[in-house]
Amino acid sequence: MADVTIESILQENRSFKPDAAFVETAQINSLAAYEELYSKAQADPQTFWAELATQELDWFQHWDQVLDWQPPFAKWFVNGKINISYNCLDRHLTTWRKNKAALIWEGEPGDSRTLTYAQLYREVCQFANVLKQLGVKKGDLVGVYMPMIPEAAIAMLACARIGAAHSVVFGGFSAEALRDRLIDAQAKLVITADGGWRKDAIVPLKEQVDKALANQAVPSVENVLVVKRTQQDIAMEPGRDHWWHELQKTASADCPAEPMDSEDMLFVLYTSGSTGKPKGVVHTTGGYNLYTHVTTKWVFDLQDTDVYWCTADVGWITGHSYIVYGPLSNGATTLMYEGAPRASNPGCFWDVIEKYGVTIFYTAPTAIRAFIKMGEHLPKARNLSSLRLLGTVGEPINPEAWMWYYRVIGGDRCPIVDTWWQTETGGHMITSLPGAIPMKPGSATRPFPGILADIVDLEGNPVPANQGGYLVVRHPWPGMMRTVYGDAERFRRTYWEHIPPKDGQYLYFAGDGARKDEDGYFWVMGRVDDVISVSGHRLGTMEIESALVSHPAVAEAAVVGKPDALKGEEIVAFITLDSEAKASETLAKELKQHVVSEIGALARPGEIRFSDALPKTRSGKIMRRLLRSLASGEEVSGDTSTLEDRSVLDKLRQGN
Ligand code: WTA
Repeated sequence: MADVTIESILQENRSFKPDAAFVETAQINSLAAYEELYSKAQADPQTFWAELATQELDWFQHWDQVLDWQPPFAKWFVNGKINISYNCLDRHLTTWRKNKAALIWEGEPGDSRTLTYAQLYREVCQFANVLKQLGVKKGDLVGVYMPMIPEAAIAMLACARIGAAHSVVFGGFSAEALRDRLIDAQAKLVITADGGWRKDAIVPLKEQVDKALANQAVPSVENVLVVKRTQQDIAMEPGRDHWWHELQKTASADCPAEPMDSEDMLFVLYTSGSTGKPKGVVHTTGGYNLYTHVTTKWVFDLQDTDVYWCTADVGWITGHSYIVYGPLSNGATTLMYEGAPRASNPGCFWDVIEKYGVTIFYTAPTAIRAFIKMGEHLPKARNLSSLRLLGTVGEPINPEAWMWYYRVIGGDRCPIVDTWWQTETGGHMITSLPGAIPMKPGSATRPFPGILADIVDLEGNPVPANQGGYLVVRHPWPGMMRTVYGDAERFRRTYWEHIPPKDGQYLYFAGDGARKDEDGYFWVMGRVDDVISVSGHRLGTMEIESALVSHPAVAEAAVVGKPDALKGEEIVAFITLDSEAKASETLAKELKQHVVSEIGALARPGEIRFSDALPKTRSGKIMRRLLRSLASGEEVSGDTSTLEDRSVLDKLRQGN
């Protein structure tokens, strides 16, 4: 076998069948049905996707060719004409869904709004005309830097409607991060708000925009549109800055959707990459619309009565694909919540579920671990019986966190879809279909139909079952990123060259280590960059961390390697404790022993460091790169702009 792969050391044998009541109404309701779909798609991916594109979407003009694949550049539905805003709005207006709630919004202070499909359509058309009035044209790019308010979705849909690409920058990013992204994308206009509510405080978004644009730093930006949300005084620069509500009031609601080429750019979304300059991930129109539509429909087993809630921010791919485009294209009711669990209301998520009768709840492992730490009494105090399906995304979920989610939030009745995917993939890639695929806690289960995922070594040879290796995808899929904005070479280098083409076939390299078990289930073991090398054994982070999290005192764990003369690397574990537990030498010893008994002596951490919090990205991923520097006593270098809370690093340096 070529080169070293990654060793798998943790076994998880629990398995759960979906609840019979769930299966009864599920769209895809047996393993055999999934396998039939999968085989059909595998045998002829192009026909599979073309049939779905015909059935599920409205096209202004049919395509000439399903796929044009000039590796690594793909074009889907060549010469097809489509508009995703049309598919999300207009086509529902001629059905009973016209007056169905499209968007239910809850603000952090407790204010709320519901927009039906007809109302959302009207707002989007008016705002599209506002953009036009300010000179935005097809092919332009618009920056969006917004709180979690309906106007964020309206802005995205309005851009799509007139054929302007959007670049949404997460509202928690700094002025500098915003400026770099606006410059890279050459944004013509920026849409923002005076502020947004987060944890009982105002995030001063407009102020950040002013800083980003100061001294003509982004010459391409001609206008700034500002939503009035938090009402505090802000500076408005005459000529450049405009109030959303003033222009919206007089704008016409007549704005037909622009027929877009299937391969026209829909949006750029910057993703940090582990070091260096953020990459502008480019997604185009037709393939992305199809892929987010179909994954939303099948993975969430969407029914017309569902109240679907994804807790991500619209500034992340999860918000793009699974708050806005996927659900609306399906005519679903999508819920958007501005707030976050906070001292004044740690149980706010459970309030929202109870208030709106949420049926599908989609969140991240980092949130689940935080819920566990806050205690069961919070969800127990609310009626969560409306829930029928749970989902998770963003990191591997530790089996113990999965069990808690299943039992406490799902009442042992709701299937969990553990969805593995990336900004780059546009939508879910490896995930259970909830009525069809039995679940194994900690596994994202099986590839979505049409996704030819595999585990290979560095030369592209498939590795045997239960052997860790590199997660790859063998065939292009409609939702895949098309390039890195302005840097096709970087696209090729990052995703297509680590593993050379094998027998003429290009393999998409995801950068994750994983194994496939004897049932074909995928187990993601963590980022390849984070692999730890102990005495010649290459270990992924997920399994050791899961062993630690299975100890009752541990809320969260992150392991990294520290150079060691003898072993190559020694494992250093950073631990946050459950609210009841106390850090001590004895506990550190016990945790080391716990890992030995769960996994084996090989994975025994040499050092345990207790900490109140772990450094995370703003979307909740643990930044092991920073912990690695800390563990080996080096200066923390590289990009730290995506770090959520900088004080965490200082505290870790001081050893608490
Ligand atoms: C990780 C988020 C295990 C993985 C949609 C991937 C996961 C990266 C899972 C992409 C999951 C995401 N199980 N790992 N269910 N979901 N990841 O671009 O390392 O923010 O490569 O997209 O998150 O993160 P991104």
